[in-house]
Amino acid sequence: METPEIIGTDPAGWSLGTGGDTLFTWDYDTSAERLLSLYRKGKQKQWDAELRLDWTHEVDPGDPLGLPDEFVWIADSELWRRLPERERTTVRRHMAGWLYSQFLHGEQGALICSAKVVQTVPDLDAKFYAATQVMDEARHVEIYQRMLNTKIGIRYGLSTGLRDLLETIVRDSRWDITYLGMQVMIEGLALASFSIQRDRVGDPLARALNAYVLQDEARHVAFGRLALRDYYRELSAPELKDREDFALDACWALRDRFAGEEMWRHLDYGADECIRLARRSPAMREFRRRLFTRIVPTLRDINLFGPRMQDGLKRLGVLGFGRLDGAAISEEDERIAEEVARLEMFGRAREVADVIARGADEDEH
Ligand SMILES: [Fe+2]
Ligand SMILES: [Fe+2]
Repeated sequence: METPEIIGTDPAGWSLGTGGDTLFTWDYDTSAERLLSLYRKGKQKQWDAELRLDWTHEVDPGDPLGLPDEFVWIADSELWRRLPERERTTVRRHMAGWLYSQFLHGEQGALICSAKVVQTVPDLDAKFYAATQVMDEARHVEIYQRMLNTKIGIRYGLSTGLRDLLETIVRDSRWDITYLGMQVMIEGLALASFSIQRDRVGDPLARALNAYVLQDEARHVAFGRLALRDYYRELSAPELKDREDFALDACWALRDRFAGEEMWRHLDYGADECIRLARRSPAMREFRRRLFTRIVPTLRDINLFGPRMQDGLKRLGVLGFGRLDGAAISEEDERIAEEVARLEMFGRAREVADVIARGADEDEH
């Protein structure tokens, strides 16, 4: 299976104007020690999905992610109970396809936005770090593309929720909006979704892949935190209000617009009812909890947490997440990825030895 079924994609691609000026700097004396240490980490922790993941693993074609029933958004309903098993399989396959397609397009968005950061950010140390992120995001696009093509077999177009958000971020000319939109909001969406995949699905390839990607994303959020923290301390009240409005609008969109709308229309079991069920499902509640667990502490850390922001978060019902320690959550992501890597290494030691032995044989002949 190498060519997936493609649903709702414009083959012409998507062309949109990029906001912001490209800045050269002649100050080559890099000095921001914390950014530089993040850059060093970014260089040293690159990994190759080709080698690090076991792509020979065969997924269950009817349920490629091993989705537990409570994670099928419509599972707690009369509609689901009435669906024959064959149709349930279709839902599981399409959910995997829709979700991983949004991961794929979101990663391409991150690739483009981190390249935009390289161009528009004034300081060389930040350009250095962002360049490592460009490479990380390219590797992530590669991974989700491979997962969709070789394991899931269904690819959807970009969802309108993600499209609107990406469009605002790419078009905006202010460098900090690229950071805020990508490094805080969309990375928050990614962290929530990938951590659910890592922790809750049954398929071992999907779990390992998301654990490794999360490890990279933890660095990206740390970059957003470092870059914005000092800048937002200096802004005037009207400038801050602008950023708060942007962040709050994005929070509402992330909360409500990722329920598989295009997929439910395509499947046609009564799209409105499916979307309504998805939005109030236990899986969506867990997604929202994880989403705001990631986003709200970061908003606090970057000093975008004035009375107006707190009031907006209260209306979303998520202000309490501001008490969590965002840096500690990122460290935990790193620890889990290291652990998965260690276990996989033991699991595959035999295979690696076989490959080395075969190579040695071929050399002799
Ligand atoms: Fe990524
Ligand atoms: Fe990222």
